[in-house]
Amino acid sequence: MRQIEKSSLMFMVSMMLSSFIWADHKSAHVDVKVPELTVKAVKGGQIFGVNCAGCHGNNGEGGSGGPPLIHDIYNPGHHANSAFIQAMQKGTRSHHWRFGDMPAQKQMGLSDMMFVVKFIREVQQANGIKTKTHNM
Ligand code: HEC
Repeated sequence: MRQIEKSSLMFMVSMMLSSFIWADHKSAHVDVKVPELTVKAVKGGQIFGVNCAGCHGNNGEGGSGGPPLIHDIYNPGHHANSAFIQAMQKGTRSHHWRFGDMPAQKQMGLSDMMFVVKFIREVQQANGIKTKTHNM
C-alpha cells in the first residue's frame, strides 16, 4: 500500500515537472486578459483576428504557429511600433523562438497595421507589460 502511494506521488510530480517543461518550450502560451478597448483598438483586434490570430492566438496569447505578442520582449522599448510594422510588411526570420519564420503580411495596408499595433499595445498595457529601455 505504502509503495503504491509513493509511486503515484512520484508519477504526479513527474507529470507536473513535464508540464512545466512543455509550457516553456512548446506552446509558449500566456494568459491574456482583454481590457475595455478604444474604438481603434477594437478595429485593430478584428484585423488581428483575420490576419494574425491563426499564428499568434486570438488575443496575442500565442498559438501553434507563433509566439505570444503579449509578452515582455515585445514591450514598446524593445519592439517599437516600427518593429511591428516592419514585421508585418517584411516578415521576420526566426530568432527569438522556434516557430520558424513569419511571412510578410502583404494583404494588409498600412492603416490596418496601425490599428493592429494599437490593439496589441492596449492589451499589453492591461497585462502589465511596461516600456523598458533597450540595452542590448
Ligand atoms: C504564419 C504565422 C504568422 C502570422 C500569420 C503572423 N505571424 Fe507574427 N510571427 C510569427 C512567428 C513564427 C514569429 C517569431 C519569429 C521569431 O522567432 O522571433 C513572429 C513574430 C512577430 C513579431 C516580432 C517581430 C520581431 O521583430 O521580432 C511581431 C511584432 C509579429 N509577429 C506580429 C504579427 C502581426 C501583427 C501579425 C498579423 C498582422 C502576424 N504577426 C502574423 C508568425 C506569424
